[in-house]
Amino acid sequence: MSSQVGVIGLGTMGSALARNIANHGFKVSVWNRTHEKVVDFVKNYGEEKFYGAENFEDFVESLGEPRRVILMLPAGAPTYEVLDLLKATLQQGDSILEGGNSFYRDTEELVAEFAELGIYFLGTGISGGEDGALKGPSIMPGGSKEGWEEFADILKSIAAADFGGKACTAYMGSGGAGHYVKMIHNGIEYAEMQVLSEAYDLLRSLFQLKQEEIVEIFEKWSGGELDSFLLDISVEVLRKKEEGAFLLDLILDKAEQKGTGQWTTEEALRLGIPAPSFANAVFARAFSAEKENRVRLSQNYPLVATSPKMLVSEFAEHLEKAILASRVAHFEQGLSILVAADKEYGFGLNFQEILRVWQGGCIIRCKVLQNFSGVLNHASNLYAGLWTEQTLKSAHESWKKVVATSVEHSIPVPGLSGALTHFESMRSEHLPANFIQGLRDRFGSHGYQRTDKGGNFHTKWS
Ligand code: 6PG
Repeated sequence: MSSQVGVIGLGTMGSALARNIANHGFKVSVWNRTHEKVVDFVKNYGEEKFYGAENFEDFVESLGEPRRVILMLPAGAPTYEVLDLLKATLQQGDSILEGGNSFYRDTEELVAEFAELGIYFLGTGISGGEDGALKGPSIMPGGSKEGWEEFADILKSIAAADFGGKACTAYMGSGGAGHYVKMIHNGIEYAEMQVLSEAYDLLRSLFQLKQEEIVEIFEKWSGGELDSFLLDISVEVLRKKEEGAFLLDLILDKAEQKGTGQWTTEEALRLGIPAPSFANAVFARAFSAEKENRVRLSQNYPLVATSPKMLVSEFAEHLEKAILASRVAHFEQGLSILVAADKEYGFGLNFQEILRVWQGGCIIRCKVLQNFSGVLNHASNLYAGLWTEQTLKSAHESWKKVVATSVEHSIPVPGLSGALTHFESMRSEHLPANFIQGLRDRFGSHGYQRTDKGGNFHTKWS
C-alpha cells in the first residue's frame, strides 16, 4: 500500500511530526540521508505505521499520487539539496510542505520556482518545539493555495486546538506569508522571554528573593490573567535542581540565537514600523554575549546594592501588571509589522485567523489572546480597543513604577522599558520630531512640513 504522505528529515522536529501524523491514521513514508536513522525510527515507532525508505527514489515511489512531501530539514544547504532532488523527480500536481524556520524571501522564490513546474509549494511555520510537533503544534502555512488544499486534512488533524476547539492552522496567505507570520511569532517570543527574564532578575536582585520564593510568585501569576505557555515553563525552569542546586544558577548568562528575532527586527526597520521590544530583546541577547567585557567593567563600576522602599508583595503586583501591559505591546508591535507587510507584499493576511492560530500549540500561546480578537473586531489597532484601554489604564502606573525602580537601582530592563516606550510614544500626540526636522533643515536643507500651512518648506536659519 502506498503512503499518504512522506516526511524527509528525521531530526527532532521531523521525527515528532511524522509520529503525530501517523498517530492520526495516515500512512507515512520517511527518508533521511543517514539511513540508520530511518531504520531506528521505523523499529522504534512501528512498521505498520511507517514505510522506511531505502533511498530517495524508493521514498518517492512509495508515495501515492498526487504525492505529498513534508521537508523538516535545517534551513539552508540541507533543504536546498533535497529541493533540487525533488525538483528533478516530482510531477505536476504534487505538493511540498517545507516546515523549517526559513526566511520568507527564500520561500517566496521557491513558491514561484515550483509553480513553474506545476508543483505546489507550501512554506510553513511550525511552532511548539518537539512536544508541540508530537502532540499538536500551531501550523502557519503559506504560499500555494492548492498546496494548502492538498495538505489541509493532515494539518487540521495534527494541529493543536484553539480556545474554541478548532485546529490551530489556516492558510496564512500567498508567497512567503507562512514563514513571515512564524517570524513575527518568534519576534514576540523573544520579547516575551526577555520580559520574563527581567521579572526574575528584579525579584532576585532587588529583593534578594530565594528561587523558591520567585517560583511562588511566578506560579501565582500563571493562575491568573498572565497565564501563558512561557510562564508555565518558567516555573519548571525555576524549579529544576541538579544535585541539590538550582540548575538556573549553574547556567551561564549568555543567550544564543538562531536569527528569527533579528529578521523580525530587520523587517520592522525596513518597513519603518516601530518595534523597540523586538530590537531590545535581540540586543539583550547581544549584551549577554559580552560576558567577558561585562565582568571586567563591573569591576570599574561596582554596583552599590540598595533596596527599594517597597514591600516585595507590592512590587510583585506592579510587576504582574507591567508584564501584562508589555504583552499587549508585544502583540501590537507584531501585528503592526504584519499590517505593513501585508500592504507591501500583498500576502492577503487574515489577522483574526493569525491570532486564533496562536491560541494553541505555539510558544507564545497565552490567555489574553482570547481578548485580542474582540479588540480587532472593533479597532484597527490593539491599543485602541475597549478591553485594551481598560487593561492598559489600570496597568500604566505599575508599569512606570517597575521601570523607574529598575532604573533607580541600576538594573537594565530593555524588555519592560522598550514595551513602555512603544506605548508612551504611540499614545503621544506630540513628539519632539519638530526639533529633529529643524536641525535637519538647518544643516542639510532637508525641508520640513508646517502645522499652520501645507507644502514643503526650507528656511535660511542663520
Ligand atoms: C517555536 C520556536 C522554535 C525555536 C526558536 C528558537 O515556535 O517552536 O520559535 O522555532 O525554538 O526558533 O529560536 P532561537 O534559537 O533564536 O532562540
